[in-house]
Amino acid sequence: MENQNPIEEIREGLKYLWIHRNGNEVHAAVADTIEAKYLKLKPLIVKKIKLADNAFRFLINLPAGLGYAEFKKLEPLFADATGGSVDISKHGKTITMDVMTEELKASYPYSLFDAGQYGGMYLPFPVGMSAKGLIVRDLTEYPHFFLGGETNYGKSNGLHVIANSILLHRPETFVAIVDPKSTEFSYLDGRALVVDEMNKVGVLLMKLNQVMDERKKILKAAHCVKIQKYLEKSYEMPFIVLIIDEWADLPDDVQEHLWRLLRMGRFVGIHIVAATQRPSSKTFEKFGDMKAMFYGRMSFVVADELNSRMILDNDRAAHLPAIKGRAIYKCGLECLEVQMLYLDPEEAEKMLNSQNIAYKVVNHIELDESPKMLPPRQRFALSAGKGRGPKH
Ligand SMILES: Nc1ncnc2c1ncn2[C@@H]1O[C@H](COP(=O)(O)OP(=O)(O)OP(=O)(O)O)[C@@H](O)[C@H]1O
Ligand SMILES: [Mg+2]
Repeated sequence: MENQNPIEEIREGLKYLWIHRNGNEVHAAVADTIEAKYLKLKPLIVKKIKLADNAFRFLINLPAGLGYAEFKKLEPLFADATGGSVDISKHGKTITMDVMTEELKASYPYSLFDAGQYGGMYLPFPVGMSAKGLIVRDLTEYPHFFLGGETNYGKSNGLHVIANSILLHRPETFVAIVDPKSTEFSYLDGRALVVDEMNKVGVLLMKLNQVMDERKKILKAAHCVKIQKYLEKSYEMPFIVLIIDEWADLPDDVQEHLWRLLRMGRFVGIHIVAATQRPSSKTFEKFGDMKAMFYGRMSFVVADELNSRMILDNDRAAHLPAIKGRAIYKCGLECLEVQMLYLDPEEAEKMLNSQNIAYKVVNHIELDESPKMLPPRQRFALSAGKGRGPKH
């Protein structure tokens, strides 16, 4: 600053005054945060767009030497300065920063999710409402999804949302639910395979491994490296989703089966969604390795930064407001505050009942019988066109 010439100084001063004029608080907060954080290599705000009364977008150029990943880590700082939710993303060379100053509400109904809009996805489900609007993702892309957080902050509700989104919109999917509380998912009995006796979990996982091996052979014979290629050729193979509500309650001796499914299941359409209060490595010896398999993660309110880091590898969930259903969603570099939609199981049951769907695939796996897991491989006419999703 001392070496600046007077004209530069006046220009800086005018810029400061211009940014700090009335109604420009968000812009000023973003600019001030950049000023405070960077001395020489300063990111440059090239454009500010007002998306709505409480939503702003900034287009930012980063100077050479400052990486996107590094800048994105400052999201919480910008959020503190603007008092809003901040999402930084990258499109080509330009960085986009979305700031929404309106607080997320404490509850959003499940009815906001309209699966019809996401026909291009295999297993769409709403991750939650964010500053950018409703975030919807395809479970098959993760390929496994993890939910953590203190008791009573919304993990099971998250699982209801995921299970019902799948059952309502891809009813041919085989959903198996490990439900240690035995009452949480009983309403889905018959549409999904609900396992509430922990001594049966080992058999379930063993049989899923058998299905996986069987499917691998089928894909190999059809020269397909993964299920998506197989479906594109108009063969039928329903996705399988294993939901585990409270991972810590799993018996110790199922780890090998679980580990194999986590590693290889995705290629044959097996996806795991697991929830737990505290994913400590004491509970699971291999948790560090297993965690890496859950590319999509969500943490509801946690007790402290340590727990947040265990779930998300950052401490953002420790600073969430104590609101049920509020969470940090993380997938790769994407890290957003969301409010998970709320789905009352009674409502879910009504929706399922009102749909006139023939549940043709209910339980491919009988836990008490010898294995007979796979539906026969069938060839379908190609006339339906090249839809991306599995054929109904
Ligand atoms: N997204 C949400 N929006 C509004 N309210 C919610 C939401 N999620 C959960 N709740 C409320 O919080 C209560 C507890 O949620 P939930 O049972 O899902 O917690 P949990 O994390 O599974 O707890 P536990 O670890 O004890 O199983 C719900 O009964 C509901 O009233
Ligand atoms: Mg629960």
